[in-house]
Amino acid sequence: MKTELKDKKVFFDNGGSKKEIHPFWLRERVNGETFIDKKTQQRLFDPTTIKKDIMIESLNLSNNFLEIKFSDGAHAKLTIQEIFREFSQKNEIEHIKKIEWDSSFKDFNKYEFRDNLFEDKKMYEALINFYQYGFVIFKDVPTKNNFIVNFANSIGSIRRTNFGEFFNVRSKPSPNDLAYTSYSLSPHTDSPYRIPVPCIQMLHCIENKVTGGFSTLVDGYTVTQKLKKDFLDHYKILTQIKVRFQFIDQNVILEDWAEMIQLDNDGKFKQVRFSPRLDFVPLMDKEKLELYFSARRKLSELYNSSEYKIEFKLMPGELLMMDNHRLLHGRTEYDSNEGDRFLQGCYIDYDSTEGKLKHLKRKFNL
Ligand SMILES: [Fe+2]
Repeated sequence: MKTELKDKKVFFDNGGSKKEIHPFWLRERVNGETFIDKKTQQRLFDPTTIKKDIMIESLNLSNNFLEIKFSDGAHAKLTIQEIFREFSQKNEIEHIKKIEWDSSFKDFNKYEFRDNLFEDKKMYEALINFYQYGFVIFKDVPTKNNFIVNFANSIGSIRRTNFGEFFNVRSKPSPNDLAYTSYSLSPHTDSPYRIPVPCIQMLHCIENKVTGGFSTLVDGYTVTQKLKKDFLDHYKILTQIKVRFQFIDQNVILEDWAEMIQLDNDGKFKQVRFSPRLDFVPLMDKEKLELYFSARRKLSELYNSSEYKIEFKLMPGELLMMDNHRLLHGRTEYDSNEGDRFLQGCYIDYDSTEGKLKHLKRKFNL
């Protein structure tokens, strides 16, 4: 890609097609001290008040800088690199390549907690790891005083729900969710009935004195790719039908309609939702429902298959941070008479991890 100047116009050449850059687009990007607050990078002017027929008075291109004087007297010195960066409409997080994994994935990293972790390069590595695999585990995280709240709020901001700011996962009498029992939990995503669905779940192990109660994880991305490759009709219907997910207790009714496999505008993987106790397919033609039911069965078979599931025991002090839009999680059954199994959980959203990752990248010039 290169830039050219001609007749007081700026052109960019991208692989043989030369196009003019709108002068207003350049005017919006004036960056001197009177136009931009250097700390926040926020504009000190309102671009909607600039004359729409703004013209370029003079231009100069040298040493990777483009200097422009506009007809209203404003002056800009832009780096060519910055201009080209604006061609990418991708969030840089999307450039982190997802790594597919299955049950053979065993040697995953565990990042040690330390006091300055949240401002440390290690945290950047942990977050990259999170975006690659959909989860990351921290160890030696303090287990006193609901430290999970502190942990979550040091990455970003906790996402409060009707379960509270955080929740205690241990078996209890009269539970309003099966999570609060000692039953096994098959792979599922959390809260598909919420708008929006919480992006990231944290589970912090405080105590685990039982022989069962292993944590399980499945990569919904890997399974989706498999389904697309080998069972295209099933994949298609699960990406098309919006299913109603619901949660009901005495205080609230939460529901949303969404695809079990949600794609983005480009038809690429965006999110999975799976919680077979909470999903209700709408009433449709019998033939369509027939296909839907076999697709859901196939999907469930894959999610529950030992081929895709990893199983490990969270030890006290370990904190699992997982992508609730990509991974499914569950646990094996345990006997609460053997001792305590006590985990604390909470949610954060992607703006937390993205914001922290970009901040650390800037801080360490990575
Ligand atoms: Fe869950």
